[in-house]
Amino acid sequence: MHQTQKYHQQHRSRYLEELLDLLRIPSVSANPAHQADMIKAAEWLQDKLRSAGADLVEIIPTKGHPIVYAEKIINQNLPTVLVYGHYDVQPPDPLELWDSPPFDPVIKNDRIFARGACDDKGQLYMHIKAFEAMVATDELPCNVKFMLEGEEEVGSEHLEDFIRERKEQLSCDVILISDTSIIANDVPSITVGLRGMSYMEVELTGPNRDLHSGTFGGAVANPCNILCKMIAQLHDDQRRITIPGFYDHVKELTNQERIELNEAPFDQEAYAADLGIESVYGEEGYTTLERAAIRPTLDVNGIWGGYTGEGAKTVLPSKAYAKISMRLVPHQDHERISRIFAEYFKSLAPPGVQVSVTAHHGGAPAETPTDSKAYQAAAMAMEKSFGKKPIPARAGGSIPIVALFEEVLEVKTVLMGFGLNEDNIHSPNESYGLFNFYKGIETIPYFYKYFVDTKG
Ligand code: BES
Ligand code: MN
Ligand code: MN
Repeated sequence: MHQTQKYHQQHRSRYLEELLDLLRIPSVSANPAHQADMIKAAEWLQDKLRSAGADLVEIIPTKGHPIVYAEKIINQNLPTVLVYGHYDVQPPDPLELWDSPPFDPVIKNDRIFARGACDDKGQLYMHIKAFEAMVATDELPCNVKFMLEGEEEVGSEHLEDFIRERKEQLSCDVILISDTSIIANDVPSITVGLRGMSYMEVELTGPNRDLHSGTFGGAVANPCNILCKMIAQLHDDQRRITIPGFYDHVKELTNQERIELNEAPFDQEAYAADLGIESVYGEEGYTTLERAAIRPTLDVNGIWGGYTGEGAKTVLPSKAYAKISMRLVPHQDHERISRIFAEYFKSLAPPGVQVSVTAHHGGAPAETPTDSKAYQAAAMAMEKSFGKKPIPARAGGSIPIVALFEEVLEVKTVLMGFGLNEDNIHSPNESYGLFNFYKGIETIPYFYKYFVDTKG
């Protein structure tokens, strides 16, 4: 990969300029106002994949946002790497908390600040540049397929049909994804577990209209009060989730596995200080590293109802709402969890309020093996570029499509991400380190090489 790395050196600044162009496209999948930007981003990627050397590049429309597919098949007998990434980003709100506009990227302190800088535009673009360099230097050692979607941040609703329909075309030996983090720039790691997700919305209705809180207060159930009480009942004093049967299929790690997990470098005081909190908080009997990766959780993402405008208005509201998500671990089934949540939540309501529960997206948790050739290749590639052996680490976030790849394509994934916890993904002032961007571009070609070498 000597020529490839030399090529990288010569094209470093162009790589970055191009990424900044991509970051200027506000491809927010959740917001219909950005429909045209989604298409613009897909076309931009199509163009870059073509000039990087893909033989076939396609934009596949879906009922939602388009999928960009590309491939370069150099020899049917060689292994095939399928790269997955997502070009959609989270909404940038709240805008007023950004130090610079989210879609006007700036470089400060060796970091790129923009929505999507790390999640996932910066990371997917590393793959396109690594591919370009390998093609340009004639060092591409195997076949490559790219599948870049625009709906990851809203639940990948239309990707499942796509991979089922195109099962043949997507056949590959490994799926490679950079959409996760490393522990630190001097502590490289490879993600070996992702949590699943069940995302619910609840609506409580009390009286048929908003009421004067003096005339009626005390005599009529207030849906906002009741909602808070019901939500509070979803955890017990040990901070365990109270939904009957919720923990039934949770995979408990062995003591040895827990010891290993907790050996990862972690400074709890620095963690709390960075977040501006006095203390951490979570399920009794588990460490912070465990709580945020191998234990299921339930969180209110948003809650509203009644009067939230300026000043004070005395009102007993008719309605109250909350968006509640649960992070799941192996071997919880997200459809079952959504169902038992709805049943239990409704059972908590007193007479006088009506409850409706709807499910948004869900996704299965995933685990990736460390004893596979693909994992070994990723570990060797990172050791080569970082000068240090990466450690396997479980992540708390979710990429629901990983479990689907395994089910439909029957192929395992390697989660070789380069982000950091401090990148503020989904938050204001998202950023991605230049070090991480270039380190990813440097590492990826080694993965290809070692993967092909060990495949024989
Ligand atoms: N890239 C993240 C997931 C992630 C982040 C995994 C950090 C590991 C470490 C992904 O884009 C994401 O945000 N996923 C959503 C999934 C959801 C919308 C179904 C998530 O985790 O909230
Ligand atoms: Mn992502
Ligand atoms: Mn994300």
